Amino acid sequence: MTELSPSLSGMRLLLGVSGGIAAYKSAELVRRARQAGAEVRVVMTAAAEHFVGSATFQALSGNPVRSALWDPAAEAAMGHIELARWATQVLVAPASADFLARYAAGMADDLLTTVLLASAAPVAVAPAMNQQMWAHPATAGNLQRLRQRGVSVLGPAAGEQACGDVGLGRMLEPEELVDALIAQQAGDRLRGLRIVVSAGPTFEDLDPVRFIGNRSSGRMGFAIAEQAALMGAQTVLVAGPTALPTPPGVQRLNVRSAEEMLRAVLDQIDAADVYVGAAAVADYRPVAPRSNKIKKAAEAIELKLIRNPDILATIAEREQRPFLVGFAAETEDVLRYARGKLEAKKLDLIAANQVGLPGSGFDSSDNEITLIWADGEMALPRASKRELARALLEQVAERMPTRDNND
Ligand code: C5P
Repeated sequence: MTELSPSLSGMRLLLGVSGGIAAYKSAELVRRARQAGAEVRVVMTAAAEHFVGSATFQALSGNPVRSALWDPAAEAAMGHIELARWATQVLVAPASADFLARYAAGMADDLLTTVLLASAAPVAVAPAMNQQMWAHPATAGNLQRLRQRGVSVLGPAAGEQACGDVGLGRMLEPEELVDALIAQQAGDRLRGLRIVVSAGPTFEDLDPVRFIGNRSSGRMGFAIAEQAALMGAQTVLVAGPTALPTPPGVQRLNVRSAEEMLRAVLDQIDAADVYVGAAAVADYRPVAPRSNKIKKAAEAIELKLIRNPDILATIAEREQRPFLVGFAAETEDVLRYARGKLEAKKLDLIAANQVGLPGSGFDSSDNEITLIWADGEMALPRASKRELARALLEQVAERMPTRDNND
């Protein structure tokens, strides 16, 4: 079995922690980043020290923590310019509204902002603040300036906030931030590509209140769209009915039935370099959905179903076709069926997974898949859907025909 390429090995991560309640989560972030192979050094702002003690970060990072610019002993050990040069990646998490304002203005009034000005490493920020502060035009303006300077903005997520408000402004979870760093480390492998991903179930209406659906959660497809965007692709997500939030940087088109999904995908396909069919498309739909609710009268009723179009196979028949990735969910003999499907649907790559096992497949956050292509295959160990999505996309980048740079 292939090891999932971890990882952050080789990354020298300078983690900036500014003042916000989410600073406590950054301790876990340090732990996870090191687990993923990164070397970590932490710089705290004065405000951050009100929330978490530097000893916590020191213990977890295995390196001295710095906060003051004017600390002769620390400067003698590793000066701030040296620290700025040491970093191969900077992440500021949490990034408070105040920090973002100072950074956007190009100030160098404390160690963290000074190091940022002195560093040539890519910078990511993970904003965390009250939803009203996030929505303020001043913050939006600062973020826009930072984005224009090439800073990646990770999150924020929506949800309940420490102050009791609900809305956008929560820092992404440590696991999500480490994944974003891993994707960044993967080197923007999909930059310049346009990827269309279909995800979720389809609902086939029987009448205005009933439908035939399936248990697909959409999580695998959403994870693929999320990772594709992080790896630099322009990403369109055609989503069947699911309550999952839209991943950052992804254009989402909501659909309901297989036919709607086909139409939405066909609309996008001419411009697409890659199509990933991760949706659990219903194979059949009612021949004649009723316009009124079916009444409970007869003892038995018959449902007549008709085959739905196969979206992947339809695209595969086109003369100009993108790189095609499909999924095969089977309860038995997975690899044989998947290879058969790869050939029958003329796909470039198929991800095979066994469904029906506890804790894997549909409706679960972990999965176990084998990637299969015409003359090879690769079994990926059980991992989060996010990690698998990244591994799958790395294979897509690997196996796609090389592009002409003059394109
Ligand atoms: O044939 P089967 O449904 O098992 O194939 C699964 C793969 O085909 C998935 O990638 C799924 O998204 C795609 N598919 C499709 N259109 C259908 C049925 C499945 O694109 N009508």
